[in-house]
Amino acid sequence: MKKDFIVNAGIRITRKCNMKCMYCNIQNTEREDLSLEEWQEALNIIKDMGVKDVVILGGEPLIYPKIVELVDYATNTLNLNCSLTTNGFSNFDKAQKLLDVGLTSLGVSVDNLNVKESISPLKAKNGLRLIDYLIENCKAPRITNYTVLNKNNVINILELIEYMNDRGVYTYIIPFHWGNEGSFDHRKNNERFAFINESDIDIYNKTVDKIIALAQKGYKIKNSIAFLEESKKHIKNLDWKCNGLSELRIDSDGRMVCCCDKIGKVNDKFTIFDLKTKKDAFLEAREKDAHACSGCLWPSSFEAQLQKEKMVKKQ
Ligand SMILES: C[S@@+](CC[C@H](N)C(=O)[O-])C[C@H]1O[C@@H](n2cnc3c(N)ncnc32)[C@H](O)[C@@H]1O
Repeated sequence: MKKDFIVNAGIRITRKCNMKCMYCNIQNTEREDLSLEEWQEALNIIKDMGVKDVVILGGEPLIYPKIVELVDYATNTLNLNCSLTTNGFSNFDKAQKLLDVGLTSLGVSVDNLNVKESISPLKAKNGLRLIDYLIENCKAPRITNYTVLNKNNVINILELIEYMNDRGVYTYIIPFHWGNEGSFDHRKNNERFAFINESDIDIYNKTVDKIIALAQKGYKIKNSIAFLEESKKHIKNLDWKCNGLSELRIDSDGRMVCCCDKIGKVNDKFTIFDLKTKKDAFLEAREKDAHACSGCLWPSSFEAQLQKEKMVKKQ
């Protein structure tokens, strides 16, 4: 396996969103989204690079008008595994269509069964309704609940995992992280949700240990145990830096970005379309950008790197 092998590509299909979650790291911009044909071309390039897994990011992916056509193209024409996450705001029938055309996994964001206590009450309420709808209406609902683990839900997260597990739904934990890279001022006031002092960290660690015990018992938990364990070391200072390059991240206008959180200083000189001819120059620039980052707590790059190491070992 080549050193520059990429495990997955995340495409930010749009930055537009029908909700305004105060903790969200994505800024809605006036930038024009790529058209269906442009995203299809981008997916051809991604596939030619040997990538098999595509993650559709947002904004809110379900408000992209041609989302079903794009997922259909990715799964049925290009044979890519394709997943996305929604806030369940509306468009239940669209979510169902995505599963019908072969979406590998539909993410729904719910962090609390007690919706009033949720970090985003409307999102939790809609998400729970969407999950019920999909279980009732889809032949094979492949659902993952994206749960932001924060100071408010740390006391009842096990209940939520249990609830989802009973319904055949996976839970994927994203530890809450607030503005670390400096430029997202609206995240300054997130002390209500962030794990900051020693007692916060203590309860985080103890809860994560209980989540690991559930995972070991076979509960439907998507994170690796390695991620959950390692997160304990970084929850306070959010200083977890990626090790290696295993993911591509593409913004809504086709520009390359470093990862989910940070628009790099070098990457945005490239668009996905440049990668046809300038892949090596991009990979070199991307490496420099990764070093400039101060860290975060998104699970995906760690999980992708783990997957890559396993694939290399198997060879
Ligand atoms: C950026 S949203 C995009 C998809 C969709 N609009 C949604 O709300 O589910 C993707 C996931 O990231 C989570 N997320 C956003 N900001 C976060 C933060 N500061 N810490 C942890 N998770 C966060 C959201 O709750 C959601 O599950």
